[in-house]
Amino acid sequence: TTVPTLVASVLPADFADLGGQVKEIEKAGVDRIQWDVMDGRFVPNITFGPDVIAACRGHVQMGFEAHLMVDNPDPMLPRWVEAGCGIVIVHAESTGHLHRTLGAVRELGARAGVALNPATPLAAVEDVLEMVDLLLIMTVNPGFGGQAYIASMEPKIARARAEIERRGLDIELEVDGGIGAGTIGGAATAGANVFCAGSSLFTGPGTMAERTSALRAAAA
Ligand code: DX5
Repeated sequence: TTVPTLVASVLPADFADLGGQVKEIEKAGVDRIQWDVMDGRFVPNITFGPDVIAACRGHVQMGFEAHLMVDNPDPMLPRWVEAGCGIVIVHAESTGHLHRTLGAVRELGARAGVALNPATPLAAVEDVLEMVDLLLIMTVNPGFGGQAYIASMEPKIARARAEIERRGLDIELEVDGGIGAGTIGGAATAGANVFCAGSSLFTGPGTMAERTSALRAAAA
């Protein structure tokens, strides 16, 4: 079995001290940071733009992924890569030209990810699966941290895992939303190998490092 990858969502971080927070996340042994980019249109919340990500880039070595919860992501694709994101994740629901958008991300030298909201079927990406490096299955409706995990997504995760294996593709299968000690096992059993966690990393008993290793253990 593959070693689980743990990704920290910065949404619950102290936005008044993002430089310090990303250093803490790196020190805690998290593998990657997810920047939850929200435009107030695709989701009912607004977070940050590429300049905020760029400001944090130099503080840590760890990888950055941009999770673009924005309408029409194409015009700003280069900005996320320039800001230091090695992975750019677009929502299948956010562009009418997903094939072109994924190609554009790879053209920029980044790894291409595609995210699916809970109601969006896997069929939405079956014709572009060869163009993605990461498939993100949302286990909450995007926009806010601290929401409850939608367990009914597990069959979808399992179908995605089966399709990836059937085609022999090298795709990271990531889940995001409500991931914590009590839910990560179900997501892992269903077939996810990358786990994005916000509130369960930033809050709870012990240190962030202890919470990180507890999550990793629960996913294995
Ligand atoms: C939701 C974000 C998630 C969320 C995860 O719109 O994309 O990354 O912040 O936070 P938790 O782990 O608290 O659900």
